[in-house]
Amino acid sequence: MYVDVLVGLQWGDEGKGKVVHVLAQEYDIVARFQGGPNAGHTIFPDASDQPLILHHIPSGIVHPHTIAFLGAGMVIDPIILREELRRLEERGIPWQNRIIIDARAHLILPTHRLLDRLSEQAKGARRIGSTLRGIGPVHMDKTGRNGLPIGIAHTRDFHNQYAYLRDKHLRLAKAIHPEAFAQTQANHPGIDPAEEQQWFAAIHDLLDSIQIVNGPYWLDTHLNRHQHRILVEGAQGTLLDNLFGTYPYVTSSRTLATAVCAELGIHFRMIRHVYGVAKAYVTRVGEGPFPTECALPDQEWLREKGGEYGSTTGRPRRCGWLDLVALRYAVMLNAVHGLFLTKIDVLSGRESLPLAIAYQHKTSGKQSREFPVHLQEWLPIYEECPGWDRLFVAPQTLHPSVRQYIQRIEEATGVPVLALSTGPEKEAWMPLRELASLPAQSGIF
Ligand code: IMP
Repeated sequence: MYVDVLVGLQWGDEGKGKVVHVLAQEYDIVARFQGGPNAGHTIFPDASDQPLILHHIPSGIVHPHTIAFLGAGMVIDPIILREELRRLEERGIPWQNRIIIDARAHLILPTHRLLDRLSEQAKGARRIGSTLRGIGPVHMDKTGRNGLPIGIAHTRDFHNQYAYLRDKHLRLAKAIHPEAFAQTQANHPGIDPAEEQQWFAAIHDLLDSIQIVNGPYWLDTHLNRHQHRILVEGAQGTLLDNLFGTYPYVTSSRTLATAVCAELGIHFRMIRHVYGVAKAYVTRVGEGPFPTECALPDQEWLREKGGEYGSTTGRPRRCGWLDLVALRYAVMLNAVHGLFLTKIDVLSGRESLPLAIAYQHKTSGKQSREFPVHLQEWLPIYEECPGWDRLFVAPQTLHPSVRQYIQRIEEATGVPVLALSTGPEKEAWMPLRELASLPAQSGIF
């Protein structure tokens, strides 16, 4: 019937998993359109305080009535996906007949991961800080027309195509970093046979238990014949977009809401609302410019209070103040209708909070309200917003300084804040506006 899109507006880790967990009960299908096991969406699906971390599977899977759709634009590591299914089982979340994959989604080979690791090592100080999940190399093969879409695994030629690509990767790995490659060859020539066997076994299990479909037809049938509602869940974030993010310190896929149609194979007229998720401050994992990154001790204060450690790699996240210039850029790029602001509780306990409202060029002194292409040449200009000691002064009554912080975000971005996430649990949620009151994207709803 319609498609709503939810994307991250910063460098990922905005808390999209939690927001999808809250929203997904209103949808029949939750879909991913890009990314792969580099994503790590943390949710608390039950009364236990044990988090469930999902990498490929959209967070909506925790609602028993939703179907999870893994779209054509995704890249899939079969070993990690099979492990995710096992973890769902462990948590008592049934997944059989509820996970669908577009046959066009590309497979990550063990040698893609090897290439990722060696090329990061070879780059030295210029490394991206990738998650080492093979994301860059699999996209190189995809755009270079050498990749293996998962649908090929059904065909007789699959093993030959795999072997051809694996051998090419091994030659490439040797050329990229001969010394590091030689070390990987100490115990066996080529790729570890046990890992290769595990990879094929995982694909075999997935093909046995998951429906692989011709995505655009499947989606068309569900949208138009069954009148289903779809929530599309973005991974990574706007500033990690391969083109409009902080290149080259970005991921290899297109993360913007405008990529949803191209990567899922649906028509843009199906899109109703675009929701953006932003953290009340900013974090970044990996390398790359981050103008509002704060110094010690604020850096540690935010990291410890916010539990800012990567859910995929465990790396400590870099922390900084909210950047309204970047947020306005992200709202513009994604045509966002409204925002979900997460982790606002983390900011409690400070006298004032800096908000970046413009940029100044390091050498010319020129000021600008545009998010710069060469971010490393610019410094943020801050205004101070009064802080708060607690979020609520009475039940459901926000502290006036919290309201002022929200108002400043709304003024700068031109869109409403729809709800606040005030803690990791699903219940820590404060709606501020009716979602249904938003204007629709294309005017046909
Ligand atoms: P890749 O996607 O693994 O190639 O990593 C490229 C950059 O994106 C690195 O800085 C990663 O830390 C970052 N990145 C990738 N996926 C995520 C994510 O889900 N959250 C936050 N950062 C991510």
